[in-house]
Amino acid sequence: MSRGEANAKGRRVTLHVVSSLDGFIAKPDNSVSWLDSPGSVYEAGVSIPEEEAATFVKAIDCYVLGSRTYEHALELGWPYGDTPTIVVTAREWPPASTRKTVEFYSGDLKTLVDVKLAPRYRNIWLVGGAMLCQRFLELGLVDEIRLTIAPVLLGEGLRLFGGSLTEARWNLKNVAAYKNGFVELSYSAPNA
Ligand SMILES: NC(=O)c1ccc[n+]([C@@H]2O[C@H](COP(=O)([O-])OP(=O)(O)OC[C@H]3O[C@@H](n4cnc5c(N)ncnc54)[C@H](OP(=O)(O)O)[C@@H]3O)[C@@H](O)[C@H]2O)c1
Repeated sequence: MSRGEANAKGRRVTLHVVSSLDGFIAKPDNSVSWLDSPGSVYEAGVSIPEEEAATFVKAIDCYVLGSRTYEHALELGWPYGDTPTIVVTAREWPPASTRKTVEFYSGDLKTLVDVKLAPRYRNIWLVGGAMLCQRFLELGLVDEIRLTIAPVLLGEGLRLFGGSLTEARWNLKNVAAYKNGFVELSYSAPNA
């Protein structure tokens, strides 16, 4: 399947996160400067023209995120534009604080993907955090993993994946190394 192409289930779920070299996706204090580009340049790397990046982002039909990632996104400055965004939470949220493009969802995640999202959206991006990604993987709801590795060791923080996943071999589909030293690894699911 190529980028954004739906599978036989009518949808494609891509898990995308940025990890440190030692497997963390957040620092204990939640600061994000480690995600900034380093000064050094990897000469053999590629850089993506802004226009191409914009086209790529436009092809994303919806984002799915856990409530802690949602709270952090609100603090940092909303990165999801006007794209529909589903926040998974069991909490009640005050309507006044909610953006028009945000919907809250509480309940079974398979129902979320196959009943609620698949009829409406094809190219679904699961963008964190660790807890929600773990649940999606456990339930076999991820079709593609796009793991961006930042050229930094953090030493401590929130682990990308916890310990409860079972062994499964994913299929490497692409490797992209960027001038800023970040590397993106793309894998399709064993059953994709
Ligand atoms: N480096 C990266 O690419 C990246 C990407 C995303 C996030 N992050 C970072 O990761 C951190 C957040 O990750 P996290 O693992 O702590 O939290 P998270 O996955 O963002 O959110 C966890 C919350 O999602 C809800 N949730 C998860 N599974 C659920 C289910 N099956 N049913 C109902 N609700 C469910 C619960 O919300 P309620 O408690 O509201 O019920 C839970 O507390 C932040 O620091 C964020 O900045 C990093």
